[in-house]
Amino acid sequence: MERVLPFRFEPAQKTFWLLDQRKLPFEEIWIPCRSATAVAGGIREMVVRGAPAIGVSAAYGVVLAHFAGEDLVQADAILRASRPTAVNLFYALDRMKPCWGSLEASLSEARAIWSEVETTEQAISQHGAKVLRGQVLTHCNTGPLATGGYGTALGAIIEGHRQGRVQHVWVDETRPYLQGARLTAYELQKAGVPATLVTDNMAGYLMSQKKVDAVILGTDRMALNGDFANKIGSYALAVLAKHHGIPFYPALPLSSVDPRLHSGEAIPIEERSAEEVVSVRGAPIAPAGFPAFHPAFDVTPHTLVTGIVTEKGVLYPPFDEALRRALGLA
Ligand code: MRU
Repeated sequence: MERVLPFRFEPAQKTFWLLDQRKLPFEEIWIPCRSATAVAGGIREMVVRGAPAIGVSAAYGVVLAHFAGEDLVQADAILRASRPTAVNLFYALDRMKPCWGSLEASLSEARAIWSEVETTEQAISQHGAKVLRGQVLTHCNTGPLATGGYGTALGAIIEGHRQGRVQHVWVDETRPYLQGARLTAYELQKAGVPATLVTDNMAGYLMSQKKVDAVILGTDRMALNGDFANKIGSYALAVLAKHHGIPFYPALPLSSVDPRLHSGEAIPIEERSAEEVVSVRGAPIAPAGFPAFHPAFDVTPHTLVTGIVTEKGVLYPPFDEALRRALGLA
């Protein structure tokens, strides 16, 4: 399968290159980062996005801090402040902390974090493919661009198609940032999977017409009871899927579970600029000065979830027990 990865590391140049996802699918522009500050800027500005990809980038940000002679405490703080919701950022930075004393140790841990993304996503794709069939609906972008590996929900969809289980994908455009239209459509086209773009408000109609057999999407942070934050609009899809009796699956590496949280209420939800709501790619779509609100994520309660697709298999209710077991906490 043809994969476009969101970053590459060139140690001889002391450079971590980010593919500018703000410009996709129209232009493929690579931005060189030579400091943790530059990587933090890239995460904040959505040059790189998607929970696992943010985690890998932050880990390499720490490596760059060594190269650039940045203060590691400050570098860590700048990276932590870049985006609040995806727990993978904090998971990666927590793993990097014991390595601050040496460049070699930091480099080896960053490489390990990236390579674990690849191996866990191969397993997620295999487990996820087994629960999919027919026509599948997905939201936002969860492919290689969002992770640096094979993708979570999109990895499962692509594998499901390879196995002949998935026939067609409905791609939610994912307003207001259009990750579905710009990135998922781009990745599915490259993967050769039959897919159709729809606006987010069409999902209910498609379900009522029996044109959706399963919904699968990603996760930015899951609490121990299975409540999870994902791209704004995920919760509405879960409610619709429940109403129509359609299976609904979040797919995630276990590193996206925050073991400190017992429910989704405490997950911090990023609020982004209202400008992204009142305009589309720079073109205004509302009267000048009109107020707008832009929560970038929402929380889906575990009661709306059919199963949780992880690298250790698909977990079923009661989710708190299943997640604790999978995390080795039980
Ligand atoms: O704001 P984004 O583009 O970083 O949001 C991405 C998502 O919500 C993804 O669904 C999530 O990070 C999972 S990526 C495998």
